[in-house]
Amino acid sequence: MKKYLFKLNSRHRELLKLVKDQWGKLAMAMVCMLVMAGASSAVPFLIKPVVDDIFINKDVTMLRLIPLAVIIVYFLQGVGMYGQECLMHYVGQNIIRRLRNQLYEKISDLPISFFQKEKTGVLMSRITNDVNIIKSMVSSAITGTLRDFFTIIGLTCVIFYRDWKMALFAFVVLPVAFFPIVAIGKRVRKVTTGTQEAMADLTAMLHETFAGNKIVKAFGMEPYEKKRFHDKTLKLFKLEMKTIRSKALSSPVMEFLGGIGVALVIWYGGFKVISGESTPGTFFSFIAAVLLLYGPVKKLSKLNNVIQQGLAGADRVFEVMETQSDIKEALDPVQLKRCPHRVIFNNVYFKYEDLMVLKKINLDVQPGKILALVGMSGGGKTSLVNLIPRFFDINQGNIIIDGVDIRDASLKSLRDQIAIVTQEPILFNDTVRGNIAYGNPKAGNKEIERAAGAAYALDFIKEFPEGFDTNIGELGGRLSGGEKQRICIARALLKDAPILILDEATSALDTQAETLVQKALENLMQGRTTFVIAHRLSTIGYADRIIVLKNGEIIVQGTQAELLAMDAHYAKLHKMQFGNDIKP
Ligand SMILES: Nc1ncnc2c1ncn2[C@@H]1O[C@H](COP(=O)(O)OP(=O)(O)OP(=O)(O)O)[C@@H](O)[C@H]1O
Ligand SMILES: [Mg+2]
Repeated sequence: MKKYLFKLNSRHRELLKLVKDQWGKLAMAMVCMLVMAGASSAVPFLIKPVVDDIFINKDVTMLRLIPLAVIIVYFLQGVGMYGQECLMHYVGQNIIRRLRNQLYEKISDLPISFFQKEKTGVLMSRITNDVNIIKSMVSSAITGTLRDFFTIIGLTCVIFYRDWKMALFAFVVLPVAFFPIVAIGKRVRKVTTGTQEAMADLTAMLHETFAGNKIVKAFGMEPYEKKRFHDKTLKLFKLEMKTIRSKALSSPVMEFLGGIGVALVIWYGGFKVISGESTPGTFFSFIAAVLLLYGPVKKLSKLNNVIQQGLAGADRVFEVMETQSDIKEALDPVQLKRCPHRVIFNNVYFKYEDLMVLKKINLDVQPGKILALVGMSGGGKTSLVNLIPRFFDINQGNIIIDGVDIRDASLKSLRDQIAIVTQEPILFNDTVRGNIAYGNPKAGNKEIERAAGAAYALDFIKEFPEGFDTNIGELGGRLSGGEKQRICIARALLKDAPILILDEATSALDTQAETLVQKALENLMQGRTTFVIAHRLSTIGYADRIIVLKNGEIIVQGTQAELLAMDAHYAKLHKMQFGNDIKP
């Protein structure tokens, strides 16, 4: 039976380790609990002299002493209660804080493929809801158990001291109580898993529909989303009610068993008082202790529910914690130095799940040279450049930077070599300055402004209410696509890395802005090994080599002029873009 209540596994030990780290505070809390338990037990103990000495014997000294004793007892109980409450919550909250940090650190280090698989909202729910439920477990488990345990011991002593035979009557029901407690706990755990999953689902939907609210509105899907949300809250409601019904069963069951215990005591105790074997003081003192005892016992019985609920949360949290990253750091990583790099793709194959998206890729980009990638949408251009910073690992072949396979290089030193402008502009809720200096906290104002200037972002930034100190979030959706892109370009410029990856970095700009930014980028590309993905062919005339990707394969490569001369497909692309009359 014990197995069901506390089946310790490595995850629980991990949690206990977090508790053990706080032993100092725990010890202090325990002292407070002892004081409190002592005071609680003293109250029924004092009932005997009240009844026998004051009421029956009419003892005047006792009449003065006992009220004083009661005041002291309640004062001590209050002090103990306050102390243990604060200390235990300190321990509980601190554990949660550290668990959240660990979880965030773990999730942050997981590869991009993980984020593509998991819904953001679900991950958010792991850190907020699931960790919260563990907090309830930790605070009530350690606070509740220890406090109730000490109180039970104190009261049990009073009971046995007053009349040990009668005490046995009161305890007869306890072993019987064990079975419903375990059964209810198991059920609570099962239902809680459902509740937490429904909660994660709800968070995921909130995240999606708030972030994508524009599309919800544009497609008139508000009623649909509202209905979807109502369905989800209804499901959650039903599950919550199931949990509540299971949990609500604990109290009545315990009360009822308690009632049987009390009835037995009254029957046996009353009989002894009537027959003159015992005094009314002993009887009332005893019955008061029994009544006080059922409170903590009842709480302990509920504890199993809280623990089962918490363990269900812990399982989901640890599932994430135990996720292995498939992008592994080499055992003895090579530190890449900051210098112009030669990048080689050697017979590279790559697939996401089952679908092979890159096949037989062979490339050799000399230091400081520019490689342009063009081709139909879905051809594999973004996938190809994502392999360089190891956002994904390849399935076959190697990618070599200056003779080092990138899987042997330290991840940090590899990514330090690369500045990237991604296909979708991604900015954070920080100031414009903070966004441009992201990853470059030491950059001075001058450098930041120079980068913004080079990305042709200075003009519009200056028009913001607080210039560089304007918060991106406060601007809300005010930033245009091109403005966002230019801030992203400025961020990459500031990083000043030897390898540059530009994924359609100018796609959201008009022709005039594009020409300007293009010039800035051309300056930037000087002396850097550059991978540039373009959808406008006119903008890659400067590239040393152009590859055309189709269905994951390089179908042609060469300079712009060569390609135009020799390849019909490339010429067709070019024609599609510019019509017949425009020459490159
Ligand atoms: N995370 C992913 N999981 C599974 N398949 C993916 C993933 N990302 C891309 N793909 C698939 O890989 C193929 C290549 O996609 P990729 O994004 O590299 O194309 P692209 O050439 O950059 O296209 P575009 O010009 O539209 O940006 C596509 O068929 C796409 O559906
Ligand atoms: Mg792409």
